Amino acid sequence: MNISIIGTGYVGLVTGALFADRGNNVVCVDNNPEIIAKLNSGKIHIFEPGLEKIVEENIKRETLTFTDSITDAVKNSEVIFLAVGTPSNEDGSFNLSYLEQATRDVGKSLKDSSGFKVIVGKSTVPQGTSQKIISILDSELKTNDKLEWAYVSNPETLAEGTAVKDFQKPDRVIIGTYSDKAFEIMEEMYHPFNITKDRIMRGSPADAELAKLFSNTALATRVAMINEFARIADITPGADMDIIRRMICEDSRIGYKFMFPSPGYGGSCFPKDIQGLVAKAKENGYSPLLLDKIHDSNEAHKNYLGERIINLLKDKEISKIAVWGMTFKPDTDDMRDAASVPIITRFLNEGIAVSAYDPKDVKARKIFEGKVNFTDNKYEAVKGVDALALLTEWKEFDSPDYGLLSRLMKGRYVFDLRNRLLPAVANKKGFNYFGIGRNYPLLK
Ligand SMILES: NC(=O)c1ccc[n+]([C@@H]2O[C@H](COP(=O)([O-])OP(=O)(O)OC[C@H]3O[C@@H](n4cnc5c(N)ncnc54)[C@H](O)[C@@H]3O)[C@@H](O)[C@H]2O)c1
Repeated sequence: MNISIIGTGYVGLVTGALFADRGNNVVCVDNNPEIIAKLNSGKIHIFEPGLEKIVEENIKRETLTFTDSITDAVKNSEVIFLAVGTPSNEDGSFNLSYLEQATRDVGKSLKDSSGFKVIVGKSTVPQGTSQKIISILDSELKTNDKLEWAYVSNPETLAEGTAVKDFQKPDRVIIGTYSDKAFEIMEEMYHPFNITKDRIMRGSPADAELAKLFSNTALATRVAMINEFARIADITPGADMDIIRRMICEDSRIGYKFMFPSPGYGGSCFPKDIQGLVAKAKENGYSPLLLDKIHDSNEAHKNYLGERIINLLKDKEISKIAVWGMTFKPDTDDMRDAASVPIITRFLNEGIAVSAYDPKDVKARKIFEGKVNFTDNKYEAVKGVDALALLTEWKEFDSPDYGLLSRLMKGRYVFDLRNRLLPAVANKKGFNYFGIGRNYPLLK
């Protein structure tokens, strides 16, 4: 099948590479010429485990190409994916300008086309957006009676860090369309990922939009909820949120996923999707009470942790903190809405110098250029610091060499904002350990 993907970011590149890998001819389009130049030179502009090799192989096989021209890409494509960003506006509503522009460009590019084309919305959008996309396409294509087309909403469910695996083995493939013909083409295209078990679920475009928004809202709510519980544990003598977490999650109705105290959720999806969902619901005349508070809870939590560290260190003459991990989660380089940003900013505002190490720090370096001292390994970062804050749970931080830390660090404070370390071990090695919702003796 000939496929084009408009928007070659975390979602577009994975989608394009994996459809190419299963024997399709894919053209990925991006209007950022730097991204296209990099991809054309055989390098990828994002970090996603396993992706570069697949991209490389399919470039060689000539099943995957890149261009900045939508017109060239869509001419010969039977299926056209819209995978551009849908970030937040200042007021929390979705900014659909990139999506609308890309849709208009696709419509204009198809003015002289003929046959049947499926146009697929992959970006996450507020409820009701499919109607808007269809009306843009309608107005661009009304004069072309040689072309038959149908719209499908096919929201992406991959997660950064595991995107390749998620795409290869999705829990479900959501397809929202009124067109049987388009549905059959989508079924054929997703067949290689659907062989073992039927993962395809069909509904209307609105069903697809809302199902996607519900998933992200549900997961974010779990994160916000356990973080609020951790704060309650913080002020409950004798409580350890890590022990409580195990007691809760062993309940099969609840389970372990997304139930880990943290500095709050981040990334390009949860924060914007929940705010955008709520903003749209309000615009449509309904103000959801619970959903409206999830984002506020998460933001408050990020601020609380920065504040709590500062307060605990208040009388301790702290001048330098090391940070391990800055990306919003491990196995990605993505810094969008990363919890590390407000926390590090809080340290800097307090006049505390920050040295930092993250295995994929390209984007973090741009954000804190000239403000944070970046190092190339984790132990380099702790030299002469008073405290260490673990902010993102990259695997390499799981078993710190406390002996080496003792020799390199000036102070003995460890702030574990992912509850990854064993407090008793840290304490035994002479460190003052602080986790989230773990009521260990306050710092000495
Ligand atoms: N990142 C994720 O984990 C994830 C997961 C599921 C869904 N989504 C959703 O998928 C969508 C894309 O997310 P992303 O993280 O890949 O975004 P991204 O910012 O990484 O990529 C979007 C790309 O689109 C390009 N673009 C913008 N306007 C364009 C236009 N008119 N023509 C061509 N290219 C254009 C940008 O240059 C950018 O490279 C968003 O709606 C997001 O919410 C993201």
